[in-house]
Amino acid sequence: METKVLPVNDESIALAADLLQRGELVALPTETVYGIAADARNGEAVKKIFEAKGRPQDNPLIVHICGLEMLHGIVSEVPERAKKLAAAFWPGPLTMVMPRGPEVSEVTCAGLDTVGVRMPSHPVVQAVIRKSGVAFAAPSANLSGKPSPTNAADTYTDMNGRLPLILDGGECTYGVESTVVSLIGEHPMLLRPGYITKEQMEQALGEDVLVSHAILEKLNEGEVARSPGMKYKHYAPKADVTILHGSFSAYRKYLAAHAEDGVWGLCFDGEADKLPVPCIEYGRQDDPATQAHRLFSALRELDRAGAKVVYARCPEKDGVSMAVYNRLIRAAAFRVVEL
Ligand code: TXA
Ligand code: MG
Repeated sequence: METKVLPVNDESIALAADLLQRGELVALPTETVYGIAADARNGEAVKKIFEAKGRPQDNPLIVHICGLEMLHGIVSEVPERAKKLAAAFWPGPLTMVMPRGPEVSEVTCAGLDTVGVRMPSHPVVQAVIRKSGVAFAAPSANLSGKPSPTNAADTYTDMNGRLPLILDGGECTYGVESTVVSLIGEHPMLLRPGYITKEQMEQALGEDVLVSHAILEKLNEGEVARSPGMKYKHYAPKADVTILHGSFSAYRKYLAAHAEDGVWGLCFDGEADKLPVPCIEYGRQDDPATQAHRLFSALRELDRAGAKVVYARCPEKDGVSMAVYNRLIRAAAFRVVEL
């Protein structure tokens, strides 16, 4: 299959809308990462997403909408908490897990009776949904297991030949996938951290949000993941990544002791020049939003540079940093060295 990469304009939006209506795939930018869209009601169309990504069939997809009225039929009930969170954070990088409605294909939700829904703020997503009238299911546009793409070129690297159209809308603003919160149980529960933080949601809800322990730790053998995506190896570049937790001087010493061909550092802005191995910088130490923005493209740069072993500086674990740590620890297969 030939994969077209087109700039965003009326014509390419119309083509994307037409493809979605005909049950085909379209890759497109959102404010978080690039996604692969297919009509969430059309099981045959959604199956093509799983094929294009090589994604396990039991990992459900998020449904994307552009107005609250579209919730009708997609969810069977809008919980009170969803109304509060929507008022505070939609459109934006927040996905809410709610009871599944009759119009969403079982394939989209991997057979679960719940559905994750989000209303993106990205103008390209909004234009495509408006033009097509299609609420679309969309995972991140990487091959399963790879870092999520945050620009059209990285999307093309993974999806060339696997779908007909990539809309090139430039770099994504946030660079990590949406926050996922479940509103199914007695208490709201954070399933995947993102740019919208647990603290911000607690403020909007006026109550505590629980944190699924799988976010920062490895699942135990045989444990059932609340968010199926959390059980898979994820975000991994080709190199073996290890997180080094400690001061900059301890990090520098460790690199000096382990310097050899193929060893790279993944460090904060302004540090690369002071280190004894080649390094890629992934944002400012004091600004987790810049780390979120850079992390996935930095992991892909390490692949292109031919890195075999990567030692990464450790982010914090709270606020937006929780999202960065959650992705990086998966890229590192949970290897952390205390310096
Ligand atoms: O920012 C994003 O959310 C991007 C863009 C494209 O919108 N999409 C994205 O989708 O990251 P994906 O498929 O890569 O990740 C979806 C995550 C997975 O961890 C999945 O298990 C979880 O959301 N999820 C989806 N539906 C769920 C449900 N009904 N219950 C629990 N977890 C769910
Ligand atoms: Mg993904």
